[in-house]
Amino acid sequence: MNYNVNEKGYYGEFGGAYIPEMLYPNVEELRQNYLKIMAEPSFKKEFDQLLKDYVGRPSPLYFAKRLSEKYNTKIYLKREDLNHTGAHKINNTIGQILMAKRLGKTRIIAETGAGQHGVATATVCALMGLECIVYMGEIDIARQAPNVARMKMLGATVVPALSGSRTLKDATNEAIRDWINNPVNTHYIIGSAIGPHPYPDMVTRFQSVISEEIKWQLKEHEGTENPNYVVACIGGGSNAAGTYYHYLHEPDVKIIAVEAAGLGVDSGESAATSVLGKEGIIHGCKTLLMQTKDGQITEPYSISAGLDYPGVGPMHAHLCKTGRAEFMAITDDEAMKAGLELCKLEGIIPAIESSHALAIFEQKIFKPTDVVVVSLSGRGDKDLQNYIEYFKI
Ligand SMILES: Cc1ncc(COP(=O)(O)O)c(C=O)c1O
Repeated sequence: MNYNVNEKGYYGEFGGAYIPEMLYPNVEELRQNYLKIMAEPSFKKEFDQLLKDYVGRPSPLYFAKRLSEKYNTKIYLKREDLNHTGAHKINNTIGQILMAKRLGKTRIIAETGAGQHGVATATVCALMGLECIVYMGEIDIARQAPNVARMKMLGATVVPALSGSRTLKDATNEAIRDWINNPVNTHYIIGSAIGPHPYPDMVTRFQSVISEEIKWQLKEHEGTENPNYVVACIGGGSNAAGTYYHYLHEPDVKIIAVEAAGLGVDSGESAATSVLGKEGIIHGCKTLLMQTKDGQITEPYSISAGLDYPGVGPMHAHLCKTGRAEFMAITDDEAMKAGLELCKLEGIIPAIESSHALAIFEQKIFKPTDVVVVSLSGRGDKDLQNYIEYFKI
């Protein structure tokens, strides 16, 4: 079984590029060039250098001793939270800004949910001196205020998306609309492993540095490159894709994908796409999608802005359909509790997105000898207000 994209842009039956005719030249330009550009030695050199000196990679692989003791298994945290700007999102934006420059683009647009991708995009635009416009749902603007301020300080224009649930999906719609209107000079930096081919593959390749590092880091800790499990939360699926990438074809490594159940999978207020989704098309790709009987997209809900998306990237839809990954759904309450637990046991305040991945230890029993690597995709600074309100701190 192949879990990577094929030459037509599909993961099994999912993926492809379902785009309006007006976007075709942009997407096709990228499709024809992305692998060539990524293979250029000068590109690789600049990418690697910036990941090292600017982002601060490699991010540590940390053995979480007290957490491991509590759950009687060996838990390692891949510390993407320690990256510059506080999450894994910067790996992708560094790659895409270098891509945009080589394609001669001068204007950058992006969508953001939790604001981490918006901040990461505003950051690389400042670094390269390019104009930056970030679309963000009005609800997310309210619940992620610190990140909105950061984007503005970095010189970006933040445009509120006022339609639909006023969250990530709607911000993505606005960004696509902008791109259609500005096809020549603009590059759209998509922030997750979603969108029309080649985006899911390109984003996955930029994020694959995560599992590339886990391999040699785990070898140092445990004498083996392969853990028993790799675990990550899934919004669109970019930190997950990067965490799984070099393990996709290692059958002894089990994959766990953690989705947001919101108020409960059956509550009507959820973002658990693998359970609630059916095949459909969103934002240019065929994937699993939460939708009504007549194909209208269902509004997703999660306490975490970064997981509040009605679909998953096509790679994850394929991993779900083939059974390669086990999907678990975590409620708001379970995630918040797991987030606070990490604070108390390890002195690390995680992003609420990452807290979803941590919450699986209350649901699933691992063996004492199991090595479980969890992607700690981001830090909790942006979520302090949410934690404060939730726990009445
Ligand atoms: C810290 C963090 N983790 C995870 C996610 C989810 O995105 P993805 O599924 O693309 O990794 C986000 C999205 O904003 C995020 O900010």
